[in-house]
Amino acid sequence: MSSPRKPINIAIVGGGFAGLALLIGLQKYPHIDAHVYESQDEFTEIGAGAVLGPNAQQAMSLIDPRILEGFQRRAIFGFQEPNAEGFHSWATVVKGQTPDVDEIVMHYKHKLKDSTIHRAHFIDELNKLVEPHRAHFGKRLSEVREGTGGDSDPITLVFGDGSTAEADIVIGSDGIHSVVRKHILGVNHPATNAFFTGAIAYRCTVPMAKAKDTLGERAIQPQFAMKCGKDGMVFGFPMSNFSLYYIAVVTFNNAPVPHDQWKVKPNVSDLRARFADFEDFVRKQVELVPDDSSTLGWSIWEMPPAPTYFNGRVAIVGDAAHASPPFQGAGAGQSIEDALVMEQLLGKYLDPARESIHPLTTTEATLMIFQAYDTVRRFRSQKVVTTSAETGRLLSGNEPGVSLHAKDIHARLTDREQWIFEHDQVQQVKDAKHVFEEAELALARGSNRL
Ligand SMILES: Cc1cc2nc3c(=O)[nH]c(=O)nc-3n(C[C@H](O)[C@H](O)[C@H](O)COP(=O)(O)OP(=O)(O)OC[C@H]3O[C@@H](n4cnc5c(N)ncnc54)[C@H](O)[C@@H]3O)c2cc1C
Ligand SMILES: *[C@@H]1O[C@H](CO)[C@@H](O)[C@H](O)[C@H]1NC(C)=O
Ligand SMILES: *[C@@H]1O[C@H](CO)[C@@H](O)[C@H](O)[C@H]1NC(C)=O
Repeated sequence: MSSPRKPINIAIVGGGFAGLALLIGLQKYPHIDAHVYESQDEFTEIGAGAVLGPNAQQAMSLIDPRILEGFQRRAIFGFQEPNAEGFHSWATVVKGQTPDVDEIVMHYKHKLKDSTIHRAHFIDELNKLVEPHRAHFGKRLSEVREGTGGDSDPITLVFGDGSTAEADIVIGSDGIHSVVRKHILGVNHPATNAFFTGAIAYRCTVPMAKAKDTLGERAIQPQFAMKCGKDGMVFGFPMSNFSLYYIAVVTFNNAPVPHDQWKVKPNVSDLRARFADFEDFVRKQVELVPDDSSTLGWSIWEMPPAPTYFNGRVAIVGDAAHASPPFQGAGAGQSIEDALVMEQLLGKYLDPARESIHPLTTTEATLMIFQAYDTVRRFRSQKVVTTSAETGRLLSGNEPGVSLHAKDIHARLTDREQWIFEHDQVQQVKDAKHVFEEAELALARGSNRL
């Protein structure tokens, strides 16, 4: 017989893609009372695009079909026709330097239509699904305090404003400077802090008339190929119904950027000098980058591989667990996969009805849930980080032993979209449940509770 219990209180720290997707998933379960604590005064995102691939879209629909509907309402879908086999082109990278200008280096394709979404628009859609009493703003976590860890011993979150909150379980989705990750790994662990990769991504838009003056008619030919070469990448295309031209420029091997100043002001003359020996069209795109505050530079940081994504009743998801360089456009998708696996495990195994199978304390169940989450999610999400970093090095001539010839790079980059895009999310959840149930059975046997 299941005893009526008070719902289990879960605190989610940080309301980005990961935290909000997790919260929306947990709202389904009457035995869970989840709350999100966000440092800012609202859920917001910087105005840039993100790719959420077929894997992420499947995960969204499994967490809550309304997330996928919101995504589909706001995503910008490609307008190129699919190829003869019905594949849409998701991302193409070609060489932007001699001797093999325009030769294909990388090409992602999929039967699902290609899309990008403005990050602020996706946050907006997620926000609409959040039950308002579960969202707490202006709560910057400064410390996690844990006692002895028993069921009757809640975890305390201490916020910058001096206020506190208690929870049975804490999940950190607090991004690249995660406080929860520090708590789990310890401040001195070598994997605790993200490191600067040396890459900086600049993004800007210019009026179409100006782009046309410089680029000619090529400015209005949608050309979704990123051009790469030694220490640089450039990407430009028409947007907002051809009224604007969007430009992204990535440079590599930059001087160190301080941890707390991740937004970088561009030095336009330096930027031009860096692309001096790229082909003419690339140089003209770089020339268009405005020398003012409308150009935003993001320093690219990466998390070293964590030995675990949890400790006790505290776990991490999203960038807090595995912040990745953006060179495979897959980081945000991993946050959604994390949220799916986590909410499904918590929803199923914290259900009091489960007591009729194996009686477990909340702490016992939580440890095995986190173990199952860690088992299926850590390797895959970490592989996205390491291969994205490798992709960045390959595309910029920084991978030891690999030349900048398109065919050499291409040989190292084939079939990457396969294991990212095609990963079956239903199977991933099943795999995690198997890990939990095996651990549960082992515990029951070991303690003669069978
Ligand atoms: C330049 C760039 C381009 C990218 N492009 C892509 C792309 O094309 N495709 C893709 O898939 N991914 C991309 N990514 C990665 C993607 O943006 C991230 O993986 C994703 O946003 C991670 O979501 P998150 O919720 O884990 O973290 P975040 O979005 O960082 O959210 C963390 C939240 O926690 C809050 N917070 C932080 N600290 C605290 C605290 N102490 N207490 C309380 N709240 C706190 C923050 O305010 C924020 O709301 C890119 C990243 C960068 C930098
Ligand atoms: C796009 O621009 C064209 C031509 O200027 C105009 O006819 C059309 O209505 C615009 N479409 C949208 C969605 O604004
Ligand atoms: C900008 O870059 C140029 C060329 O690399 C360099 O000479 C100049 O000192 C830089 N300016 C600033 C303000 O850093």
